[in-house]
Amino acid sequence: MSGPHRSAQVFVTGGAGFIGSCYVRQLLADSPDVRAVVTLDALTDAGRRESLGPALDDPRHGFVHDDICDAPLARSLFDDYDIDTVVHLAAESHVETGRWYLANPRYVEP
Ligand SMILES: NC(=O)c1ccc[n+]([C@@H]2O[C@H](COP(=O)([O-])OP(=O)(O)OC[C@H]3O[C@@H](n4cnc5c(N)ncnc54)[C@H](O)[C@@H]3O)[C@@H](O)[C@H]2O)c1
Repeated sequence: MSGPHRSAQVFVTGGAGFIGSCYVRQLLADSPDVRAVVTLDALTDAGRRESLGPALDDPRHGFVHDDICDAPLARSLFDDYDIDTVVHLAAESHVETGRWYLANPRYVEP
């Protein structure tokens, strides 16, 4: 699998999650030519802002606490940061304990 090209501007959804936070930290640490990384995360039960660790202090990194369903916001981020690479990891991965499930159990029960 190839990663973002040099000097990329990367938009990561779910970047405060298990895989996303590791990806963002590693991308910034290993890729000095990456110009900007924007993390969008709703901080559901699985998301932890502090998992981003040193990425939170990296001037190339911006963290946005919001929902990917907010289309105008996502559009504005694409415009503001001139995004050319998207890594989509936002998910309600813990379906059985997530807030969405607790609010809508009839969609998940057998
Ligand atoms: N962890 C694994 O072993 C594994 C293996 C294969 C595939 N995957 C897939 O990779 C993806 C990420 O997995 P993970 O383990 O990092 O999950 P995770 O639950 O740790 O992270 C998901 C992130 O998405 C965020 N999120 C949820 N709904 C959102 C919304 N509406 N808007 C913005 N952010 C939202 C959460 O706050 C969380 O930070 C999932 O699609 C998962 O199915 C994971």
